[in-house]
Amino acid sequence: MGSAGLSEINFRLGWPNPGLLPVKELQSASQTALSKSEALTKDSLLEYGPDHGYIPLRNSIATWLSSFYQPKAAVTADRICISGGASQNLSCVLQAFTDPAITQYIWMVAPTYFCACRVFDDVGFAGRLRAVPEDDEGLDVVFLAEELARCEPPTPISMPATKTRRSWNKTYRHVIYAVPTFANPSGRIMSLARRETLVRIARQYDALVVTDDVYDMLQWDCQPSKGQNVRKTACQPRVVDIDAYLDGGPIDDFGNSVSQGSFSKILGPGLRTGWAEGTLRFAWGLSQCGQTRSGGCASQFTAAILSEMVETSLPQYMQTVLQPTYARRYRTMMDAVVRHLLPLGISTPVPDRSGTVGGYYVWLQLPETVRAAEVVKVAREEMNLLLHPGSLFLVEGDASKCQLSFLNGVRVCFVWAEEELIVAGVERLAAVVEALSA
Ligand SMILES: Cc1ncc(COP(=O)(O)O)c(C=O)c1O
Repeated sequence: MGSAGLSEINFRLGWPNPGLLPVKELQSASQTALSKSEALTKDSLLEYGPDHGYIPLRNSIATWLSSFYQPKAAVTADRICISGGASQNLSCVLQAFTDPAITQYIWMVAPTYFCACRVFDDVGFAGRLRAVPEDDEGLDVVFLAEELARCEPPTPISMPATKTRRSWNKTYRHVIYAVPTFANPSGRIMSLARRETLVRIARQYDALVVTDDVYDMLQWDCQPSKGQNVRKTACQPRVVDIDAYLDGGPIDDFGNSVSQGSFSKILGPGLRTGWAEGTLRFAWGLSQCGQTRSGGCASQFTAAILSEMVETSLPQYMQTVLQPTYARRYRTMMDAVVRHLLPLGISTPVPDRSGTVGGYYVWLQLPETVRAAEVVKVAREEMNLLLHPGSLFLVEGDASKCQLSFLNGVRVCFVWAEEELIVAGVERLAAVVEALSA
C-alpha cells in the first residue's frame, strides 16, 4: 500500500458539509434583520442584551421546539436561555449549578464527546469524571444507579466551598452528561425506558442531567425503501421533556435536567449560537451566571438573524436539503459498510426498534485481529484516510474496565466528506483492516 496519488478522505471531522451550508438563507435573513434599523438601535441589537437572550429568538425557538418535540406541555420562552452554543452553555451551567466542594462526581456516557471533558476540567472537576457504559439502548442506568448508591452517604469533600451561595441557583451533588439521541460518537439513541429511569435516578441522587441534544433534528429511516427522508417530529422526547411530566413533574423548582441545543450542526458552527432549556427557575438561574450578567447573553446580534431564519427558511432547509442529503450519505456509507466491512468482522450498533437513525456518525467496532490505533495510523499514512480511534472518546482520568469495550473502535463521520468519496473511503478502510489482519 502507498498513499501516493490518493486524495484525502476525511471521515474524522464532525463539521457540517461546506457545500450544504445555508448561505443564501443566511444572507436573506441577515438582510431582513439589518434592514430593521429600529431593532438595531432601539431594541439594542448592537448593544448589550437581556440576560436570557434576544426575546424574539427565544419565542421562535420555543414554537419550533414545541412542534418538533411535541411535549405534553408546549415549550415556553421563559424556559429558554440563548447561549453561545452547547459547549459554552455547559461551562455556564457548571459555573452556576456546581461547586467542586459540594458536587461529587461528573458521570459521563462512555464513549463520550471528548471536548466535554475539558469543560468539566476547567471548572475544577479534574480526576472526578466517571465513565458510565452505553449499550444499544443507551446509557447503562443500572450501572449508574449502583455507582451512585455507592456514594451514599455522601463523603464530605475536604475543601472549602468555592462559590458564594445565591438565591437564584442551587448546587447539585452530581452531574450526569449524555448525548441521548444520535450520540457522538456511537450514533445510538437512548430508549424511552432508559430516559425515564435516568430522570428518576437523577431525582433520587440530587443529580443534574445535562444532555447535548444537538443532533436530534437530523433523522431519517434506516431502510431506504420506506422513503421517509423527512421526519418532522422527534423520535424520542428529550430528558428535559420527561422531567417536566414524569411522576407529576419536577421535584423542585430547578428540576433535574437541562437540554443543550445548538445551531452548530444544523446551520453552521461559525454562528456560535445555541439555547438551553430547563425549568423556569433553572433558566433564570442560568441567565444569572457572572459572564452573562456582565452585559447580557451571548450572540445578541446573531440571534436576530437566527430568529428570522427559524421563522422563515429553517424548517424548509432542514426538510428539503439537510435531512434528505444526509440520509443519502448515511445510506451510501452503510451500504458500503455492509458490503466491505461486515465480512471482515467489523460491527456497528443495532438501530433502535423504530428504525430511526441520524446525526453525523457511524461507530465501527473492529475485530480482535486488529488494533484501532494501528488501523487509524496506517489509514492516514498509507491511504490518506482520516478517522478517529476509540481512545479519543475515553472519559478522561477514569481507568475503569468499562472503558475497554470501545477502545477497539473507530468513529466515522459521513457528513463532511463529499458524497462521491464515501464509498472509496470505506473501501480504503477495508483494505487497511484486511492487510493488518493478514
Ligand atoms: C455532542 C456534542 N455536543 C456539543 C458539540 C458542540 O456544540 P457547539 O458548537 O454548539 O458548542 C458537539 C460538536 O461536535 C457535539 O458533538
